[in-house]
Parts: sequence; structure tokens; C-alpha cells
Amino acid sequence: MYILINIWHLGYRGVTASYEIYNFLKTPVKLSLSANLLNVSKKDNLKEGSELKSKQATDNFTGDISFTNVNFAYEETDVIKDISFTIPNGTSTALVGSSGSGKSTIAHLLAGFYPIKNGTIRVGEKILSEKTVDEIQNLISAVWQDSHIFFGTAYQNILIGKPDATKEEVIEAAKKARIHDFISSLPDGYNTVLGERGAKFSGGERQRIAIARAFLRNSPILIFDEATSSLDRQSEMEIQKSFSELCKGKTVLIIAHRLATIQKAEQICIIDNGKIEDTGTHEDLSSKSESYRKLMGEQILKQKNKKEAL
Ligand SMILES: Nc1ncnc2c1ncn2[C@@H]1O[C@H](COP(=O)(O)OP(=O)(O)OP(=O)(O)O)[C@@H](O)[C@H]1O
Ligand SMILES: [Mg+2]
Repeated sequence: MYILINIWHLGYRGVTASYEIYNFLKTPVKLSLSANLLNVSKKDNLKEGSELKSKQATDNFTGDISFTNVNFAYEETDVIKDISFTIPNGTSTALVGSSGSGKSTIAHLLAGFYPIKNGTIRVGEKILSEKTVDEIQNLISAVWQDSHIFFGTAYQNILIGKPDATKEEVIEAAKKARIHDFISSLPDGYNTVLGERGAKFSGGERQRIAIARAFLRNSPILIFDEATSSLDRQSEMEIQKSFSELCKGKTVLIIAHRLATIQKAEQICIIDNGKIEDTGTHEDLSSKSESYRKLMGEQILKQKNKKEAL
């Protein structure tokens, strides 16, 4: 059975997207990727009997991701200023920086939500543009800072990640995202309608639904923007193991605050006021960057004390 997902208008955090963005994307946005960036009309966006617009992730991709001299402004002032960095194929790059420095914006640009002012974003052989945005979005799964739930059942909300998934695959993904038990406890289980008239989900539960979508989609490029920020410590620790498995061999852009997550990345970029201030591994930056030590602050100290105590 197919499900209809109709996107009525685009938006981000309640801000209605500009006509330019709509024009840039034109074709329906891939929901699995953009779920959180779409201000979907809560009514009628999931109806039975029609086609799900989200496409399967493409899995035969290898290649580096690179930003070259990228500038971007939401309005007049540049938010991203001449950024250049490469995420080598199959590795993880973490972005760290203070609030408002531009981390999420960089992730949104990679996801093709906004046209850049100048510079180049390259994904493998392809340069991100109006022509290639669809193809590139098919390579990506993302879990954003705020995760959205669509009007529809819990099952449909996970299925968005991979429209032709089997029931077993959906349940498996929900288990990995540690949301299966919660869904099973709802009055109608996976058939419980979520959204306006349905069960109200907490931020952490919504985030776990989004994580389940990403597990199900299993695409070659992953974007995690504070993907576990709304989870309690216990759920986060439980999900970490499955996350590590999911990330194996994938090209990953990760935004996180927790040192344990950040230090696993092959490369860490410090973002300051829309620019890359420094780049290196956790070890490099711990010794050479005052900003990194400040950003990680107590976490580095705690880790050091723990090691010394052993
Ligand atoms: N849709 C938008 N329209 C206008 N300005 C925006 C929009 N989204 C973000 N900004 C601005 O762009 C700058 C970078 O924001 P961004 O969300 O990328 O920061 P961040 O590093 O992800 O912060 P945080 O750690 O708080 O998530 C901020 O000054 C923010 O106010
Ligand atoms: Mg952010």
C-alpha cells in the first residue's frame, strides 16, 4: 500500500521558505532527508492510496565531499564565509563551535536546502546545483536538531526513510533507534496515528523516530545535527552502538557537543562566526587549539582525570 505525502509549503523552524528556495528545489523534496525542514501541513500530508514521494537512497556511491570557498547568506549578511574543507570518502568529520557559529547551516547547505552565494559544494563527481540536488539528496540521510513527525501512523513515519521496506526492516530500525518498545506500548502499536489528532511525542521520541528513519534508509552519506541532543543519557548510550555500526564505511558530517562522539571523527573542524578556525584530529586540536580546549572545556578535563585515575 502506498501513502501520500503532500508538501504544502517549505519552511524551517517556522520561517516560511523564500520563493528562491522553493524555486531552487522545485521538485518535491525528499522527505526522509528534509522532514525536519518542511513545515508540512499537519492535515492530509499522509493519505492512503497515493504514492510516497520520498525516493530510495542510492547506495552505489563512493567519493569525497568537498566545500570550496563557500559563501552563504540567509539575508544580506554572510553567515558562511569562504569555507573550504573535504570529508574524505568513508570518513567522519565533526563540526564544533559556539551556538550560532554556522554549523547547522553548513549541514543544510550540504543537504541542498539553500542555494549558495558562491563557491562549490562537490559530492563525489557531482557539483551541487539545481540540476543535481535530487540525485545528491538520494545519497543522504539526516537527523536534524529538531525532528518532525508527520501526520500518519508510527509505522508510516519510519517508512518514509525507505518506502519499499518490509515490516521486519521497519521494526529492526525502530529497535536500533530504541523506539520499538515505546511504539509497542501505544494503544495501537505501530498503527497509532501520530500528529495533530494522534499521540503527542516528546522531543526525544521524535528524535528516535528520525533516527529510525536514518537506520532504515541506510544511505552512503549521513548528516547528524545534534542527533541525540533530546535523548536522556541512557537512551543515548544505547543508541551509540548502533550508530557506530551505521556509520561504518559511510561518509559522515556530524555536529555534536559530546566529546565522546566528537573525538571518534577522523577530522574535526572548529567553526567560528561562519569561518573554519582550525581543523585536525582530537589529539591535534587538544594540543594546538585554545578554542578547542575552551569548547570542550570540562569534558577534556574529566577525561584526563579519569585516565590518570586508572
Ligand atoms: N533560517 C534562518 N534565517 C535567518 N538566519 C538564520 C536562519 N537559520 C540560522 N540563521 C542564523 O545563522 C547563524 C548560524 O546559525 P546556525 O543555526 O547555523 O548555528 P549553529 O552553529 O548550528 O548553532 P547551534 O549550536 O545553536 O545549533 C545564526 O546567526 C543564526 O541566527
Ligand atoms: Mg545548529
